[in-house]
Amino acid sequence: MYTHIPVMLTEVLAALAPRQAQKYIDCTLGGGGYSLALAAAVGVEGLVLATDLDPAAIANMEQIKLERGLPQIKTVHSNFKNIKAVVSELYPDLLFDGIVMDLGLSSAQLSDLERGFSFNGQAGLNMAFDASDESGQTEAIVNDYTEPELIRVLRDYGEENYAGRIAKAIIERRRESRITTVAELVETIATAVPAIYKNDRRLHFATRTFQALRIETNGELENLRVVLADALEILKPGGRLVAVSFHSLEDRIVKQFMVLESKDCLCPPKLPTCVCGHRARLKIITKRPQTASDEELNNNPRSRSAKLRVAQKL
Ligand SMILES: C[S@@+](CC[C@H](N)C(=O)[O-])C[C@H]1O[C@@H](n2cnc3c(N)ncnc32)[C@H](O)[C@@H]1O
Repeated sequence: MYTHIPVMLTEVLAALAPRQAQKYIDCTLGGGGYSLALAAAVGVEGLVLATDLDPAAIANMEQIKLERGLPQIKTVHSNFKNIKAVVSELYPDLLFDGIVMDLGLSSAQLSDLERGFSFNGQAGLNMAFDASDESGQTEAIVNDYTEPELIRVLRDYGEENYAGRIAKAIIERRRESRITTVAELVETIATAVPAIYKNDRRLHFATRTFQALRIETNGELENLRVVLADALEILKPGGRLVAVSFHSLEDRIVKQFMVLESKDCLCPPKLPTCVCGHRARLKIITKRPQTASDEELNNNPRSRSAKLRVAQKL
């Protein structure tokens, strides 16, 4: 069973305000919480095009469709960075009423000990969202990157204060043998970080390293930049772009994109006249990111770090 409690669903629906026969894209199907709610609102005359990199998420929704019908949901196993190509192949010339992305991992992926996302399993080092991807990218990062490259990944993508110490420990450990399992990686991190970090009850000491390796493995920040830019091209005027992010790196990208695209001119202020010709294409709806309600925070700890931003195509 592919389980995930959707985060900030009420706020996402309020932002998208779906109505009968409208057309939406859910870039990150996951457990299908957003897609099912959108499908109920748009009805069989509408469309919810739902993509996910994880074949398990697609298979789960196909099973739900077998049981409940829902012809308005169209699933596609694809990286959302290819959303424009997916749309032009399946629905050429169609513009959408809203596009939503709920970034990162689903609970189903995190809790599956056979996959490389949890600190607790004995799984191989594979943090690809697509479990069938056997290119060995995570293992290659851990075992083949140089020390400065590892430090960059851990610092830039994990915001890890002990990046240098962890990178050094990884390099030392792999002189003995390749690090091939999650457990070996966690053990290695444990040798590198101070006791106070290991005893921190709020954050497991491997969290930041795992986040960094996952982002590097999947090219997550680059994918996000691409999908934001492409989403603008397939939204209707008045259509809404909604992004839910779970760490500051993603939220910063979403924020900067929305700010940039809501400006008419990007020339340096000292220029007397505009030479860039840039025209605003978005109106920002959420000046500050929305966060989960107290009730949701109590019921779903995963919602703690969620930040939701909304913009409207002009
Ligand atoms: C937080 S979950 C989405 C949960 C979903 N909103 C729900 O209500 O169940 C994020 C999903 O995005 C998928 N994902 C992450 N990066 C992706 C990408 N570049 N392209 C497509 N799917 C991606 C993951 O596989 C995961 O299933």
